[in-house]
Amino acid sequence: MKITVINGTEKHGVTYKMKEIFLKEFEKDAKITEYYLPKDCPSFCAGCTACFLKDQSLCKDAEYVQRIEKSILEADLLVFTSPAYVFHTTGAMKAMLDHFGYRWMPHRPAKEMFGKRAVIITQCLGAGGTSAAKDIKDSLSWWGISTIKVVSFKLMSDIVWDEIPVKKRETFEKKLVSVARKMYAIDYSMPGATSLAVKMKFYIIRMMQTGLGKENPEYVDYKYWNENGWIGKKRPWKV
Ligand SMILES: Cc1cc2nc3c(=O)[nH]c(=O)nc-3n(C[C@H](O)[C@H](O)[C@H](O)COP(=O)(O)O)c2cc1C
Repeated sequence: MKITVINGTEKHGVTYKMKEIFLKEFEKDAKITEYYLPKDCPSFCAGCTACFLKDQSLCKDAEYVQRIEKSILEADLLVFTSPAYVFHTTGAMKAMLDHFGYRWMPHRPAKEMFGKRAVIITQCLGAGGTSAAKDIKDSLSWWGISTIKVVSFKLMSDIVWDEIPVKKRETFEKKLVSVARKMYAIDYSMPGATSLAVKMKFYIIRMMQTGLGKENPEYVDYKYWNENGWIGKKRPWKV
């Protein structure tokens, strides 16, 4: 199986340690590709809207964004990690996710996303881990992913791994291993089921795209939906 990991920090700290514990369960069988932010997607979206209005290849950062996208599309399992920074995901993760605005369902979602599984690992000192995970989950669910497992921890002690009390570290390890084993047990030759929430989003946007297409059949997002057959009877979750 293939796993793509997007790390919201380059630091080899607590988040890194948690991710390593999680991935250990897959080491034997998986081809793991990791990206570290901001190194692997270093620039902010400039808001030029070329990706939305014309083509994603016109983005000034296409070289970085398309490399990550290819890896995401090829992966069976996606792993996103982030510490909470001022109650949210890291700026580096948010900057990377902004680049994928064109893949949100109201624009041009990739059909591969609909059967994918993802895990989000976040941690914080006291509060903000859940909202950091939500920042990431919002994008993943609007990309079309239904199976998104969130694992979020509160350290409530030191923020250096080796200085966290042993008992607490063991609790984190147990949880991470348990989630990893559940994700490992999945049969990745079958796409994940699409949830009712994702289907509802799809049908509302399909209605919107149908209307936009009547006004302007050359509209980029409408043409994409139409070419995929989604304005007709095809559905991205039916392979
Ligand atoms: C800029 C910055 C902002 C942070 N904001 C929060 C926060 O809002 N809530 C919180 O509980 N911890 C906060 N923390 C602590 C981190 O979430 C985290 O626990 C700590 O950085 C250790 O993780 P790491 O070793 O992976 O970097 C912050 C840390 C940094 C550097």
